[in-house]
Amino acid sequence: MLTDSYGRTIDYIRISVTDRCNYRCFYCMPEGGVKLIHRKELLSYEEIAEVIKQFAAKGVSKLRLTGGEPLIRSDIEKLIKMLSSIRGIKKIAMTTNGSLLENKAAKLKANGLNSVTVSLDTLNNEKFEKLTRMGIVSDVVCGIDEAIRIGLDLKLNTVLLRGINENELDELISFAFKRDITIRFIELMPADYDIGFYKKRFMPISYVSEFVKKRYDAKPSNYRSAGPASYVEINGHLIGFISAVSVGFCDNCNRIRLASNGKIYPCLGHMEEYSVDFKKALGKGESIDDLIKKLLEIKPKSHNLLNLSIKSSMSMIGG
Ligand code: 5AD
Ligand code: SF4
Repeated sequence: MLTDSYGRTIDYIRISVTDRCNYRCFYCMPEGGVKLIHRKELLSYEEIAEVIKQFAAKGVSKLRLTGGEPLIRSDIEKLIKMLSSIRGIKKIAMTTNGSLLENKAAKLKANGLNSVTVSLDTLNNEKFEKLTRMGIVSDVVCGIDEAIRIGLDLKLNTVLLRGINENELDELISFAFKRDITIRFIELMPADYDIGFYKKRFMPISYVSEFVKKRYDAKPSNYRSAGPASYVEINGHLIGFISAVSVGFCDNCNRIRLASNGKIYPCLGHMEEYSVDFKKALGKGESIDDLIKKLLEIKPKSHNLLNLSIKSSMSMIGG
């Protein structure tokens, strides 16, 4: 079992398979996109599988593929197949913007994907197009419905945004309830995008939890996923709340992040100063045992998101 220097068990790896995305969400990237990792520097599927094999042998059992947008990396289902055959890996999930899900859902499931989390911040096409700078919301809805139809376990992630979707909570919740899926509201985090957007759009997650309590007959739920959300239950449906800033989730952190350039980041809120370069080590044929040890030693106690100094984009580190 892997344990860090604060006694937290690490059994979960988020793998950012690409930093590229077909959207440009305001809270993730500047309009012109971000400086991209050169293709030569991308970890190959074989390299990703090799890193994961070594972590799985030490107790990591849950994986999540993220991006950028993971579905734009070619043959992603091939990677899923490789990962699902690694001994010790019990669960493979993916976080996606959903735009390409409709055509891929069946293949992903057949290759071993267990669940998907789809980002959906608004159901209004105009707002969606503005927020993503190019997306069409019906693509995402079709992707969601297809994934449900073929039996992929599915959740929605909704980032709470002042003046954009705080008046749409009822619609989003009934969209989820109608499909019998869980929706989770996420507090906006500062990252490498226009900080004016953060200041203007941030709302504490308590806004949604208060709204839900007033509006529905909600009971606190003991349900816990692998992540930091807390949940309430309404007639058998779950609504989740995730707060990085006003509540914090670091005490129970169980994860590390493998970026598409082969570096592992032990914390969302600290980048280069704490990263460990696995691609370099693999290239030299070095054992990664020492790197894993170092990674656990340097994993910080908590992020430092409040000082608004994060210089990484979500598309690079995978949310
Ligand atoms: N704050 C909160 N959530 C974010 N995501 C991306 N950028 C941010 C941000 N600045 C979310 C996406 C997706 C997940 C990977 O992270 O909406 O659901
Ligand atoms: Fe793409 Fe997700 Fe970033 Fe939006 S938040 S630009 S969908 S990676």
